[in-house]
Amino acid sequence: MDTKKKILITGGAGFIGSHVVRRFVSSYPNYQIFNLDKLTYAGNLENLRDIENAPNYTFLKGDICDAEYIQEIFSTYQFDGVIHLAAESHVDRSITNPMAFVETNVIGTVTLLNVAKNFWKDDFSNKRFYHVSTDEVYGSLHDENEMFLETTSYDPKSPYSASKAASDHFVRAYHNTYGLPIVLSNCSNNYGSYHFPEKLIPLTINNIKNNKPIPVYGKGENVRDWLFVEDHARAIDVIFHSGTDGETYNIGGFNEWKNIDLVHLLCDIMDDKLGRKKGESRKLITFVKDRAGHDLRYAIDATKIKTELGWEPSLQFEEGLEKTVDWYLANEKWLNDITSGDYQNYYKEHYQ
Ligand code: NAD
Ligand code: TYD
Repeated sequence: MDTKKKILITGGAGFIGSHVVRRFVSSYPNYQIFNLDKLTYAGNLENLRDIENAPNYTFLKGDICDAEYIQEIFSTYQFDGVIHLAAESHVDRSITNPMAFVETNVIGTVTLLNVAKNFWKDDFSNKRFYHVSTDEVYGSLHDENEMFLETTSYDPKSPYSASKAASDHFVRAYHNTYGLPIVLSNCSNNYGSYHFPEKLIPLTINNIKNNKPIPVYGKGENVRDWLFVEDHARAIDVIFHSGTDGETYNIGGFNEWKNIDLVHLLCDIMDDKLGRKKGESRKLITFVKDRAGHDLRYAIDATKIKTELGWEPSLQFEEGLEKTVDWYLANEKWLNDITSGDYQNYYKEHYQ
């Protein structure tokens, strides 16, 4: 691959996207990185405050569903690569408003694929469309020895995972039908800095900090496989540069936790950091009505990416979680700006 790439990263103002943008902007000064984001409730340009003035970084406010706009930016900037992360990403929201997930995750992805295919069709060499997906497309595991492999059949159970599964199928169909050079990855649950506080880990940290109830769905028996977000961004970097066209790579931490055990661990770390008596924060745990159709267990077998591309997670969970708690405690303003809604003024105040 040539060293002066122009890469479009979608959803770069979100949680994982901001880590990917930061990594590419800082690690590849010869690349031009374009971050396209609609700035939905989940998009927060404060996530990228530290690199927003870098000479190789450009922010583009736009919607991946807007074909005309996507064509226009492809013509203007002549992208060689796309790393596609923009999505509606919260399962609970997909239960109350599935159409938004069909719109962005399915229509938006196909819009991008179509423009990339038409724009690159005369010469696919040195081009790459990287689609970032999730382990949730594989469904829910019930046998405790089973893990998701790249060859596991899709069996999505929530409107979110169904929309991601549909987008994955379109990505592979564009490869098979038109020869579009694609790679895909399916990653487990991420955690770390800049995680929007509607998801389990940042919500729990925020609620403990503010002495508010910690809602645990059902009995807290559901299992998730957690990966530090910077390890995911590194995996995306490795796959983007060294993955094989048409291939899928599972990414995971080999790190399964029952929700209730994870919440207990977080409570203990927070007690320690906040100088509270041990056991104090656990009193905030409140069991609430279960999520409809709640997937029981996800577990990724990430052997392929390790053997073929040499990637593996760098952090032990306890260490990563402590780092994450430290970050949230040191970045109160970031959290408060979300709670107050001020983060949504950042674009107007800094970019217009
Ligand atoms: P996020 O919700 O934090 O961020 C999504 C970003 O996409 C936001 O900045 C939002 O403004 C932007 N966006 C939404 N709709 C858009 C549109 N129509 N046009 C342009 N931008 C739009 O999501 P995340 O947790 O960072 O997830 C990023 C990607 O990684 C998603 O594709 C998700 O499916 C996948 N993924 C997430 C996890 C996880 O644990 N969070 C795990 C595996 C895979
Ligand atoms: P979440 O962070 O929403 O990620 P996902 O649903 O994509 O795995 O939820 C992680 C787990 O935590 C999931 O089993 C649902 C559960 N959960 C709670 O128990 N309470 C909460 O308030 C939230 C948001 C999630």
